[in-house]
Order: sequence, then C-alpha cells, then structure tokens
Amino acid sequence: MSSPVDKVLPRRRPKEVDERLVSLLAPSSFGAEQYRVLRHLIEQTHGAADFKVVAVTSPAAADGKTTTAINLAGSLAQTPDARVLLVDADVRRGAVRNQIGLGGTGAGLVDAILDARLDLAEVVCHLSPFNLAVLTADRCPSAPYEVLKSPRLGELLAEARRQYDYVVVDTPPLLPVPDFRVIANLVDGFLMDVAAHKTAGRLVEGALDIMDPAKTLGLVFNGDDRPLSGYSSSYSRPYAWEQSRDGNPAGRWRSTVRKLGDLVRRFS
Ligand SMILES: Nc1ncnc2c1ncn2[C@@H]1O[C@H](COP(=O)(O)OP(=O)(O)OP(=O)(O)O)[C@@H](O)[C@H]1O
Ligand SMILES: [Mg+2]
Repeated sequence: MSSPVDKVLPRRRPKEVDERLVSLLAPSSFGAEQYRVLRHLIEQTHGAADFKVVAVTSPAAADGKTTTAINLAGSLAQTPDARVLLVDADVRRGAVRNQIGLGGTGAGLVDAILDARLDLAEVVCHLSPFNLAVLTADRCPSAPYEVLKSPRLGELLAEARRQYDYVVVDTPPLLPVPDFRVIANLVDGFLMDVAAHKTAGRLVEGALDIMDPAKTLGLVFNGDDRPLSGYSSSYSRPYAWEQSRDGNPAGRWRSTVRKLGDLVRRFS
C-alpha cells in the first residue's frame, strides 16, 4: 500500500547525492556502520519511551549538522518498514535539498508553516530508493525566528509524530541565532555536532549551557582522525561519539569535553 506521501508527489530519484552521505550511497561501508551506532541509540531510546523526534544541532556553522542528520535519517530508514521523516528546520540556510540532490524548488517547511491549509503530506517528498520522506526548508522567510515561533511548527511536528516512527530535524547553529531554542521545546532529544579540531572548546561549553541536559543524547565529533584500536588505518570513521549516561548533567558533559584533548580546539 502506498503511503499518503506517495499519493501527493511522484516518487523521484535523487540527481546527485553528496559523497559524505554514506548511509544513502554506501550502506555497507565502514562509515555507514558508524552511523548505525547512532541509529542504535535512537532505536533504543525510541523503544524505552515515547521518543520519536530527534534534532541535530551544533554550536557554530559548518560543524557537520546536516551531514549527520541526513546520515542518521538514512540509517534509520534502512529498516524496510520504518517510517522516517527528515525535516530541514534550518530555514535560514536550508541545505538538505541540495545535499540529497533533490534539485529544483518546491513547497516545504516554511510554506507549510505560513499556510495552514497545507497538509504535511502535501509538502513532504518521498525518496523511494532510500525509503526516506523529506521536508525541505524551501526558502528563507524575512523573519525566520517569528516563523519558527508560530504554533504551526508544533502542529506540523505533532502530525509528523502521528505519521512517522522517527523524525530527524536538521537545525541552524545554536549560538549565533535563537532558532534552536524554539525548536528544542518541540523535540524529544538532540545530538550536538562538534567539528573535530575546529570547533572551539568555549563554543562547545557555551552550547552546553543552553542545551537541556535531560534532552542531550550525546556529542558527535565529526572528522575525528584518531585511529580506531583493532582496525587497520584504511578504515576511516566519519565521527566519534560520546553518549549521555544517566541523563548527564551539564557539568558532566563539560568534564567529558575536557578529557577529549585536542579533538576540541583549545585556543580562542
Ligand atoms: N564527518 C565529517 N568529516 C569530515 N568533513 C565533514 C564531516 N561532516 C561534514 N563534513 C564537511 O563539513 C562541511 C559542513 O558540513 P555540513 O553542511 O553538514 O555542516 P552544517 O553544520 O550543517 O553547516 P551549516 O551550519 O552551514 O548548516 C561540509 O563541507 C561537509 O562535507
Ligand atoms: Mg546545515
């Protein structure tokens, strides 16, 4: 039986997919196996509580949020009967459409927020080769924060909860703009990306001050180049991972970050 999504938009094949999206392009690769570690955490959390909506954030721009969000969603969607929606809530610089090679333009999250007559199903497109539904950010509104603060965003995510097993939300950087503070209230948990050797430690700590420790599932260190013990150097992993334990209080995250040596940039 086709999903409501398929009835609205024709199934389409992505034109060109970013090479870092290994969960979509190379699901048997070592890199894709690493994203299955993140997927396992989300599946476990999903099983333990009514946990469906996970956001990916980071302290600053270009820390790897969109890459992580798409790979996580793609990994969850590898289970054939899983219903997975990827939402691009970075309405200022939405990048999901380009990275997954959707091309062109089309209605998306901003349209759905501004026009309450649009159903979720009318703005979601389905990437059938990847078993993945996607809600792109379509365009940057003149007042992004006001648009995100609209109760319509909560209504759309509530509808997404009813229609999907997992909703992965890509978000803007946490420190420069206020958007994540609004989105954080609407999601069940979040992952924070840190670009290894690049994101300054003071930004990581600043972001941890803002994030609700009870909702912080873990930190994802993109571009971690430390060798993996027991594996040959030909295996290069896309990220390293620190998982929340016992609802990590913020202070404990900070001590974890301090133990990571030069994985977090120390100066500035
Ligand atoms: N695991 C990784 N290892 C190495 N490079 C990566 C990794 N993940 C992402 N990158 C690269 O870092 C850059 C930024 O990635 P991405 O667009 O995913 O970040 P972002 O945090 O979403 O950026 P923005 O803040 O602009 O939305 C891209 O060039 C991407 O290819
Ligand atoms: Mg991004």
